[in-house]
Amino acid sequence: MSEHGVKKVAVIGAGQMGGGIAQVAAVAGFETIVYDASADQVARCQATHEKLLARAVEKERMTQDEAHAALERITRVTDWKYLEGADIAIEAVVENEGVKREIFARLDETLTNGAILATNTSSISITAIGAATKTPERVIGMHFFYPVPVMKLVEVINGLATDKAVTDRVIGLSEAMGKVAVPANDRAGFVSNRVLMPMINEAFYAWMEGVAEPEHLDEIMKLGMNHPMGPLRLADFIGLDTCAHIMNVLADGLHSERYRPCPLLEQLVTAGRLGNKSGRGVYEY
Ligand code: CAA
Repeated sequence: MSEHGVKKVAVIGAGQMGGGIAQVAAVAGFETIVYDASADQVARCQATHEKLLARAVEKERMTQDEAHAALERITRVTDWKYLEGADIAIEAVVENEGVKREIFARLDETLTNGAILATNTSSISITAIGAATKTPERVIGMHFFYPVPVMKLVEVINGLATDKAVTDRVIGLSEAMGKVAVPANDRAGFVSNRVLMPMINEAFYAWMEGVAEPEHLDEIMKLGMNHPMGPLRLADFIGLDTCAHIMNVLADGLHSERYRPCPLLEQLVTAGRLGNKSGRGVYEY
């Protein structure tokens, strides 16, 4: 395991991804701070941590004392000043380049101890985020997968300026968090979404063209390819708006119209059918 030198982890954004990352860090023994500007979001994050750790105890994956200690290691804050002194910031806010650039410029000012500045972005250029700072060599992608406590992978993405020592430390840290870190470089969609999203998009085309009903399409991919969920069910799980957004990022970033979202996918998003989170997407929940 490579050295990471991290004791204190700061997570920016207390949504599903940020909350999951904080939980995994705290369970692995790191002092963890979760920052969100919204007090409601912070409270929801705490409730989720309590629920998921209670479930882990129920399932005998940890003892009551271990769960309690993990909860105690997490500080949830709405005040930015508590981020000072963290050895790494892992940003997991909304997928908006402008918002992320602002946050990274601010992190660059706040974390002056050579801390690593990582982003959990699934599609925004690490190089572009790094360019918002004066220290792009310490900016890196640390892409976790949903649900974070369950999924093993961290896709570690090097921006153009990322220092090799930073990559090694992030790989070491990911391993210390119980994950498997796999490196990739900074092109639109990296590896995971470059390959996954066109498959999901193609499933929408196949459905639109009447090749199969969603249930059959998903069953074919589940049983034939040993995927845990079929692509349409997975699209609902990820969020249809997120899927459409990532396809547009691929089309723009790779300069190819063949990556544009399928019209049916776009139409469902327009109708507000966003998947599990809105109660209806391809399927009803
Ligand atoms: N948070 C924490 N734990 C969760 C969870 C969540 N949101 N959802 C499920 N789990 C846990 C369950 O508690 C359960 O643990 P126990 O055995 O202790 O009960 C375990 O996961 C398995 O869950 P289930 O038995 O309910 O259901 P399952 O066996 O069908 O697994 C699944 C659920 C893990 C989500 C599985 O269907 C799966 O792996 N699906 C594919 C997920 C995937 O591809 N994720 C990546 C999405 S893409 C992405 O994140 C990145 C991007 O950039 C878009």
